[in-house]
Amino acid sequence: MTQPALALPTSFVEDADILRAPDDKAYREAMARVASAVHVITTDGPAGRAGMTATAVSSVTDTPPTLLVCVKRTTAAYPALVANGQFCVNTLAADMEAVAAAFGGKTAMDERFAAGDWYDLATGSPALVGALSSFACRVTARHSVGTHDVFYGEVVAIGLGQPSGGLSYFARGYRTLAP
Ligand SMILES: Cc1cc2nc3c(=O)[nH]c(=O)nc-3n(C[C@H](O)[C@H](O)[C@H](O)COP(=O)(O)O)c2cc1C
Repeated sequence: MTQPALALPTSFVEDADILRAPDDKAYREAMARVASAVHVITTDGPAGRAGMTATAVSSVTDTPPTLLVCVKRTTAAYPALVANGQFCVNTLAADMEAVAAAFGGKTAMDERFAAGDWYDLATGSPALVGALSSFACRVTARHSVGTHDVFYGEVVAIGLGQPSGGLSYFARGYRTLAP
């Protein structure tokens, strides 16, 4: 059945591929065009220390200060995030691509943490020295959506590094943002 035309200016639709029933591949391609900040999520506690690179991080509200992180349930860090009930979001500075790579690959946990220097920001979840911002969070809610769990974290402490350029992920590669 032919779909009705979208109400868009002709000049816009001429060059555009419009996918009305997107599959996961099309969705990933579209999301590859969305620039994101790059973060390393860490956790520590009874279940031990773990960490991973993540771009699926968003502010939820400043009252109370709350953010969310979307974590695939098969990642090595997932069980520790659930059991520890707390995490730290470290927003990477422009020169921290090596840290992003260490936490984004299939690297052993201890090797990942060797890529940076860490300090304790209130909860025990490692905060990264030199990160633009670090947010120590306690998990207040978690729910599953498809392959991922969304962790809501109430921010209990903030670490601010020196203001500098940021690391971004865009079109399947790392980019830097000027301050
Ligand atoms: C730039 C980048 C962004 C990523 N963002 C996410 C994310 O938001 N959520 C997620 O679950 N995994 C994300 N990943 C994948 C995890 O970092 C990855 O699964 C994990 O660190 C490596 O797998 P393992 O920990 O199971 O060995 C990202 C990886 C990269 C390189």
